[in-house]
Amino acid sequence: MGSKHQSSRFSSSSSSPSICFSNRFSTILTVTILFTSLYLFISPIKHGSEPLARTIMETGFNGDLRDANFPWNSLFFGNNFEKLKLAVFSKTWPIGAAPGGMERHAATLYQALAAKGHEIHVFTVPSDRKPHIDIHQGNLHVYFAANDHGSVNCSLAFEIFNTINANGQFDYVHTESVSLPHWRAKMVPHVAVTWHGIWYEIMHSKLFEELVFNSQETIPKPVSELHEAMPRLVDEIRFFPSYTQHICISKSAGEVLVNIYQLPQRNVHVILNGVDETKFVHDPESGTRFRKKHGIPINASIVMGVAGRLVRDKGHPFLHEAFSKITKTYTGVYLLVAGSGPWGKRYAELGSNVKVLGALEPSELSEFYNAIDVFVNPTLRPQGLDLTLMEAMHCGKPVLTPNYPSIVGSVVVNQSYGYTFSPNVESLVEALKSVIKDGAKVLKNKGIACRQHALSMFTATKMADAYERFFLCMKNDRFCHYPLPTDC
Ligand SMILES: *[C@@H]1O[C@H](CO)[C@@H](O)[C@H](O)[C@H]1NC(C)=O
Ligand SMILES: *[C@@H]1O[C@H](CO)[C@@H](O)[C@H](O)[C@H]1NC(C)=O
Ligand SMILES: *[C@@H]1O[C@H](CO)[C@@H](O)[C@H](O)[C@H]1NC(C)=O
Repeated sequence: MGSKHQSSRFSSSSSSPSICFSNRFSTILTVTILFTSLYLFISPIKHGSEPLARTIMETGFNGDLRDANFPWNSLFFGNNFEKLKLAVFSKTWPIGAAPGGMERHAATLYQALAAKGHEIHVFTVPSDRKPHIDIHQGNLHVYFAANDHGSVNCSLAFEIFNTINANGQFDYVHTESVSLPHWRAKMVPHVAVTWHGIWYEIMHSKLFEELVFNSQETIPKPVSELHEAMPRLVDEIRFFPSYTQHICISKSAGEVLVNIYQLPQRNVHVILNGVDETKFVHDPESGTRFRKKHGIPINASIVMGVAGRLVRDKGHPFLHEAFSKITKTYTGVYLLVAGSGPWGKRYAELGSNVKVLGALEPSELSEFYNAIDVFVNPTLRPQGLDLTLMEAMHCGKPVLTPNYPSIVGSVVVNQSYGYTFSPNVESLVEALKSVIKDGAKVLKNKGIACRQHALSMFTATKMADAYERFFLCMKNDRFCHYPLPTDC
């Protein structure tokens, strides 16, 4: 599964004969294998039989949710009257409007679950590392238990935990990554962990960074980070069983936990992250205003956009080089760069086709997405899943991203939603050329498909519904059955 997605499946397919060959070869193989099965014979002509199989699985799923090997987000869960009491460990809790990250995920999720009537107790520290009083908002209780360094003091957190548990047992405990350390988790029987990035993926990040950057240095840096990766992976594989239940934020990470980390399939679940669908909306007028404000001419043929921290690891050296090549041949192509960091200045030097906007207010982000024809994410870090892809899709924009298993397995599952490339400049240039060749009209149609896909999979509401059902299923296995009469 993972290796199948390693090759560039649907971007710039004309560029590389070997990719064409391997694609065709695998198609022939698939067709041959399925030859006797007449009704499956029709579908695999393009990408193998998997999309068909998946569609049948997800829409018609009937059975125990613990056996589902696809994202729970794709199911429709109805309301239930059973109420939960949950304990949550999170490394930090967001103070103010700082975007992104694991803590934003935790806040979005637990505010939603508290609003659904569940009693939520969060053990954490403030993200700004300053003293704050605990939060008690309706059913949501946030306890700040910091040590001298500003990180969670586990002993203190457990003192509070035990007091609340004595007043009525928690139904389940949830930890965002290792916020609850494994040696503590071992002592807590009902614990589920959400992994936001595992060392198996981080190892790939280190590998790509090494391949891309270290070859360019005159004095190569020591590859210590690379050497460190494998022992870290081994360590993880050894301690992961200390947690009972595992939730992954991409389909591919779930597969790695089963196939490489050897965790029981039934204890590994996929729930994709969601973004607030009310903040990221399709609004072409705001996009037009944004273009005008930032000096994009009306006759621009394609406007691309990139957002986030403008640092090396996020792949900006790639995009910088690829875009400077592209603008030599294609004149009407523009690039909007949102965010701050050392690469901002270098982008500005590329000339009038690049507009460097600096860091945007959270309220401006949706306008930014609406102003572009395609969102480009050149990241070199295949760990976790970037929320920006989902935000752009909610705004009705296709995406151009590396072909990492997490992305092609869960977000850009086929060419209806965008373009993918291998993490090198040549492949990125080819993908950019495909975007330009397709043109604004095709991009717009892909954008419509993206928005529908995002609304059906990547909303905060769908994420909260999936987690709610997960914890209900852990409390009482009656809820593990799908569909229940209350599901629609
Ligand atoms: C953590 O909390 C415990 C219990 O309240 C306290 O005794 C200990 O000094 C704290 N540790 C740090 C490093 O702050
Ligand atoms: C857009 O218009 C400007 C001025 O009106 C012109 O100089 C430029 O060549 C045009 N660009 C394209 C891609 O047509
Ligand atoms: C792309 O994937 C979606 C979701 O699985 C599916 O509905 C759609 O038909 C696929 N499109 C193509 C062109 O394969």
